[in-house]
Amino acid sequence: MSEEVGLVLALAERLAREAGALQRQRYESRLEIRTKSAAVDLVTEVDHACEALIVDALSRERPGDAILAEEGRGADSDGARWRWVIDPLDGTTNYAHGYPRFCVSIGVEYHGAALAGVVYDPLLDELYSARRGGGAHRNGRRLRVSAETEIGRALVATGFAYDVRRSLEDNLDHFARFVKAVRAVRRDGSAALDLCYVAAGRLDGYWELKLKAWDVAAGALIVSEAGGRVSDLAGGPAPRSGREIVASNGHLHEAMLALLSRD
Ligand code: IPD
Ligand code: CA
Ligand code: CA
Repeated sequence: MSEEVGLVLALAERLAREAGALQRQRYESRLEIRTKSAAVDLVTEVDHACEALIVDALSRERPGDAILAEEGRGADSDGARWRWVIDPLDGTTNYAHGYPRFCVSIGVEYHGAALAGVVYDPLLDELYSARRGGGAHRNGRRLRVSAETEIGRALVATGFAYDVRRSLEDNLDHFARFVKAVRAVRRDGSAALDLCYVAAGRLDGYWELKLKAWDVAAGALIVSEAGGRVSDLAGGPAPRSGREIVASNGHLHEAMLALLSRD
C-alpha cells in the first residue's frame, strides 16, 4: 500500500509539472476565453488542454481509478478505491488577464480519504506535495506553518465565489471584519495556492466559502501535513465538497472562527 501511494504521488507530481509546462508556454498568448456559470466565471482553452493532458494520462496509466475534474472530462468508476480530484488550472481569471498567479492542483483519495496532494505553480517552479502522514514539501524541502499567535499580526487571504454579484452570502461581511482585525488581507485568485501559502508560512490563515472539491483536495492535505489546522466555519471537519474552509497555522484558528461566526 505504502509503495502504491508513493507511485501515485510521483504520477501526480509528473502530471502537475506537465500541465504546468503547458500553462507556462501559453501564458500571455492569445487565448480563447469563454464564460461558464456567470459573466465573471471564465474558462480558457488552456484549462481544457491541461485537463485533457492529465485525464488522458490517468486513463492510460491508472485505468479503473475514478476521476473528478473541473471541466468535466472525469468519470466515476464502479467500486474504484482511488479517486483523483483535479483542478487543471486554478486561477483562471488571473491566467486570462496575464496576472502571474495560477497553478495545477491534483488531490488523490483512497476510499474517500485524502492520501496525496500536489499543487504546481509553473511560473515560480514551485511544486508543493504532501502524502498523509509523510509531511508536506515544496521542491523537496519540508514545509511548516507559521508560528504567529496574534491575530492582529496575521496576514490572511480569502476569495469570492462567482455568484458574488447576485448572492447575499457573498463573504463581504467576513472580509470587512478581517480587514479591521488582522494586519492585512489578500485576495489573490487561486484557492489552491492560498492553501499552500498557509502550509509554507507565507500566510497565517485563509478562509473561503462555496469552493469546489477540486479547489481544496490537494491544498487541505498540504496544510494539515505542514502542521496546520483545516476545518469548516464551526471548527468541525472541512467538507470535502469545498463548501466552506478555514485553514490556519493552528494558533490563530479559534480567533479566525470567532471572526467568522455570525453572532
Ligand atoms: C477559483 C479560484 C479563486 C477562488 C474561486 C475559485 P478557478 O478557481 O481558486 O481563488 O476565489 O472561488 O473558483 O475557477 O480559477 O479554478
Ligand atoms: Ca479552482
Ligand atoms: Ca479551475
